[in-house]
Formats: sequence, C-alpha cells, structure tokens
Amino acid sequence: MYAPLDNSWLKIGNIAKVKDENSGTQFEYKRKVKEAYMPEAEIEKNVWLVKATPAVLEKVYQGKDMEFVDSGGKAIWTNKKDFPYLAFSGKCPHLGCAYKWRKHKVLGQVFLCPCHLSIYDASGQVLDGPAPRPLDLLPIQVSASGDVQIIDMEFKAGTKSQTRIV
Ligand code: FES
Repeated sequence: MYAPLDNSWLKIGNIAKVKDENSGTQFEYKRKVKEAYMPEAEIEKNVWLVKATPAVLEKVYQGKDMEFVDSGGKAIWTNKKDFPYLAFSGKCPHLGCAYKWRKHKVLGQVFLCPCHLSIYDASGQVLDGPAPRPLDLLPIQVSASGDVQIIDMEFKAGTKSQTRIV
C-alpha cells in the first residue's frame, strides 16, 4: 500500500507519429503492475501527445518550467517551458474515464470525455463540463532519434488540486 512511487521512464513510441500542431495524438503502451499476493500483470494504458505552438505552451506553463517531485519532495524531472511536446495522462481528471481527441461542432477540435462531457483544449485547460482541473501533464523527453519516454504518473480523480497516487 505504501510502495514507493515508480519514477522510471517508459518508452511509448516514436515522435514521428505526431503530425499536426495543437492536435492530440494517442500513444498506447503496456505497463507491468504487481499488487500484493497477486501475480505480475500487464495493463494497457495510454497518453495523449500534443506538439504545441508557443501560444499553447504559454497557456500550459505560464512562463515557468514545471518541476516534478517524488514522494519525498525531491526533484525528479523538469519539463522545460519551451519544449514543444506535451504528454497528458490518458485518464480524465473528473473520474478517470478515457477521453478522445474529437471535433466539437462549436469548439472545433478538443479533448472530449464521453462519461460526463468534460471538454479540454489542446493545452489541457477545461472548456466545459464537471472536470475539476486541467488534464494531468506528465514528464516527457524525446531522444535525438525520436523515441518518446514518459514517467507514467497517475493522480487522484475528482479533486481540484493534483495528488499523485501512482
Ligand atoms: Fe471524464 Fe467524468 S470522467 S467527465
């Protein structure tokens, strides 16, 4: 129950898959999980990547790098405010459903969660619906050859502030 948080980097694909700016591209991956007394299992997960223009990066970072810390408060990674790629957790911060990148008849292309109709823009900001906070941003890095790696963090759903649980 009190296992340390896993801060290892996971390779999820190649950045060449992301074609357009300010547009969501889904990356699916598998992750091994081990719960007490249960055999190790593999679960399917996903994140959404956005190649962001400077205006969208400004909405996300508001001019400041974003630091991620471990459970003891020690810095583990910093997303630089001018690094163009964003990785959003695939779970809606409302109640954890999976959302999609969809065309909305009024708002244009958005992230749309079908469960209770939360809507987010390409920067992850809430445009409509019951979501209590923006989409959860993850640590991301891209190698010179285009390999995308993330730290697969999860956060408590349904709360205004972000509390990491995995
Ligand atoms: Fe996404 Fe409720 S879980 S809107």
